[in-house]
Amino acid sequence: MGVIVPDAVERYLATLNRSHGAVLDDIARAGAQRNLPLVDAEVGALLRVLATAVSATRILEIGTATGYSGIWLAGALPPGGSLFTLEMDQDRAREARENFTRAGLADRVNVIVGDAKLLLAKVSGPFDLIFQDGDKQLYTPMLDRLVSLLRPGGLLVTDNVLWDGEVVPGFLPKPVRNEKDTRAIAEYNQRVASHPELVTAVVPLRDGVSISVKRSG
Ligand SMILES: C[S@@+](CC[C@H](N)C(=O)[O-])C[C@H]1O[C@@H](n2cnc3c(N)ncnc32)[C@H](O)[C@@H]1O
Repeated sequence: MGVIVPDAVERYLATLNRSHGAVLDDIARAGAQRNLPLVDAEVGALLRVLATAVSATRILEIGTATGYSGIWLAGALPPGGSLFTLEMDQDRAREARENFTRAGLADRVNVIVGDAKLLLAKVSGPFDLIFQDGDKQLYTPMLDRLVSLLRPGGLLVTDNVLWDGEVVPGFLPKPVRNEKDTRAIAEYNQRVASHPELVTAVVPLRDGVSISVKRSG
């Protein structure tokens, strides 16, 4: 459970969104056993709603891990749609490919292995939705490139923007998370909030998710 939304409310939300399918449940269970920082089902459901709302046919994800959030995203794509997901860890990328196959989504997912900072120069847009869930210290350095890859009206969705509340100075008497990451996220939040091409709202769900729409004009 997170520290932002009270436990009882999180438990209630979980009861509303119970049936995710055996593959997602299995990946979540395996991820929890190995302490992998995967989104949870509530954020997964939000991603699927957002991808559906913009009728996404092309999605980019930074940080695949074992494919959990990618399955939520790719599940919103129509046949012929594409999710491009970037992961630097070869073993996780291999596992993700297996999971996309188990979920019946391999035909619309490209797992690209390498450093997203370098790969972004080679990726071509436009994308309808971009999910940023990679290295927190790269959030700000990647921001302008990601905005340039979005179509007008497209969404940039970023996970962990409240960082268990630690972006708020003094929220915890003794911060637990990496200080450099905390500073990087706080800087990113300021940049996104004042970005001239984006309109942004932060949803305090789980670890905090920001949702930005790229302006049309
Ligand atoms: C928070 S996890 C992603 C979780 C995944 N989105 C999910 O919820 O199922 C972040 C992932 O980003 C990967 N990563 C970190 N830095 C990266 C980089 N520079 N390029 C590509 N992947 C990176 C890590 O190996 C890790 O698997």
